[in-house]
Amino acid sequence: MRRSITFRLNGDEVTVEVEPHWTLLYLLREVFELTGAKEGCGMGECGACTVMVNGKAVVSCLYPVMEVEGKEVWTVEGLAEKSPEGLHPLQKAFIERGAVQCGFCTPGMIMSAKALLDENPNPTEEDIKTAISGNICRCTGYVQIIEAIKTVAEEGHGKGTA
Ligand code: FES
Ligand code: FES
Repeated sequence: MRRSITFRLNGDEVTVEVEPHWTLLYLLREVFELTGAKEGCGMGECGACTVMVNGKAVVSCLYPVMEVEGKEVWTVEGLAEKSPEGLHPLQKAFIERGAVQCGFCTPGMIMSAKALLDENPNPTEEDIKTAISGNICRCTGYVQIIEAIKTVAEEGHGKGTA
């Protein structure tokens, strides 16, 4: 039986009917058509589905949809939409630093980086590595990704939504 939940999605309050067995990833992709978060492993191991819930990076493929009630969810689409220049500084830095190849890991990687910089605007390289340790990238070798996150932190652009 469907149930109604209300939460904030990319800054706006939304109310939606859900099946209690759905995951947050299913809700985002299939109902809201926010396809930035990807389904890779579906088992919490690849990080491709990472979004932010109440400021923390979570794997949405394992996040029960009923637990979203009353919470604040951000996806990579929201970062772009709410940034005055059309892309969040992290998104720009990933492009400029060559941290995007096939792009499958990128939305999840960016959300993990965003959660890190919101909590710790001046991370060490080790902090960055730890923050993205749950995000698998098969293409880049991680060097450019770490550089991109470092650049944003150094420029002081990490904090805040936009
Ligand atoms: S799809 Fe969620 S961690 Fe892999
Ligand atoms: S850019 Fe292809 S998996 Fe990371």
